[in-house]
Amino acid sequence: MKTAIIGASGYIGSHLLRAYRLDYPDCIGTRFTSERTDLAPFDLRSPDLQALNLVETDHTSVLIAAAETSISKCQQSESETAMVNVQGTLELIDQCNRLGLSIIYLSSDNVFDGNRAPYDDNSIPSPISAYGKQKLQIENAIFNRTRKNLVVRLSKVYGLEKGDGTLFDQIAESIFKKQRQKAAFDLLFNPTWIEDIVKRVRALQASGIQGKVNLCSPQAFSRYDLSMLIAEAMKANPALIEKVVFSDIDNKIIRPLDTRLRCSVMSSIYEDPYLDISSAIAFIARNWQE
Ligand SMILES: NC(=O)c1ccc[n+]([C@@H]2O[C@H](COP(=O)([O-])OP(=O)(O)OC[C@H]3O[C@@H](n4cnc5c(N)ncnc54)[C@H](OP(=O)(O)O)[C@@H]3O)[C@@H](O)[C@H]2O)c1
Repeated sequence: MKTAIIGASGYIGSHLLRAYRLDYPDCIGTRFTSERTDLAPFDLRSPDLQALNLVETDHTSVLIAAAETSISKCQQSESETAMVNVQGTLELIDQCNRLGLSIIYLSSDNVFDGNRAPYDDNSIPSPISAYGKQKLQIENAIFNRTRKNLVVRLSKVYGLEKGDGTLFDQIAESIFKKQRQKAAFDLLFNPTWIEDIVKRVRALQASGIQGKVNLCSPQAFSRYDLSMLIAEAMKANPALIEKVVFSDIDNKIIRPLDTRLRCSVMSSIYEDPYLDISSAIAFIARNWQE
């Protein structure tokens, strides 16, 4: 299905667009502050889908990967971020409806409260972070306002490129620089390789399934465990990693701590294994040892 990516300059959007463009080289992708010239400018605070000419260019779907994604910024500037994450996204959804375009919305494990993990596809969300509340507003609106829709809930996404700034790379860089880091043992999630996300979003779309789907690797870890595994793979001094509770790092931010997910729907559609975390960590360690 020819799909436009809103937020194609972002980490996930850029990987998805690359994959979609293998089938349709003229797939539209949008940017906001990025200067990528192969992307169309688009401001989610005042979205204008007509200007992208999606129907005229035979697009049938819109994947929404654009958002203000900082959990702390959503808490500190709730109304400013809601202009992007809620009001603007709702307007975009209405415009997709009017044009008959199906919607894929990237949501988050932050729609859950962190008290009753693991969460299934059909667990009842009750977000505690401002970011999670914004995400849930869109999930609900999509179901109230549209028929052709898919909500994909992600856990933390990582890449394997040195310097990509994703989770494992950040941890490895600090270890490489021999910086001490606090790592929370009560922050639990399912880190998932970006290419595993890309393949599965496309498989979900091809299957025609609608509704809410959890998408993440079955392997769950704490931030502390991941940091220790990376330190071990880099043969670094484990004393660089300080085991703490999340509130020792930041006691102002409100966020769910244990957001482990179970992905029954996804596994019924796509059976190939996810990248194993030990292979990913070995790869990251090599990046920073060479
Ligand atoms: N990455 C994760 O681990 C993760 C986990 C769970 C859920 N998610 C969800 O997945 C989606 C994509 O995440 P990501 O990590 O790829 O985010 P990201 O790298 O921060 O990218 C955000 C995208 O949104 C665009 N954007 C921001 N403000 C905008 C505005 N006012 N108008 C139009 N576009 C705007 C950015 O454009 P510019 O860069 O051009 O400014 C960028 O393309 C988000 O909805 C996020 O909540 C991500």
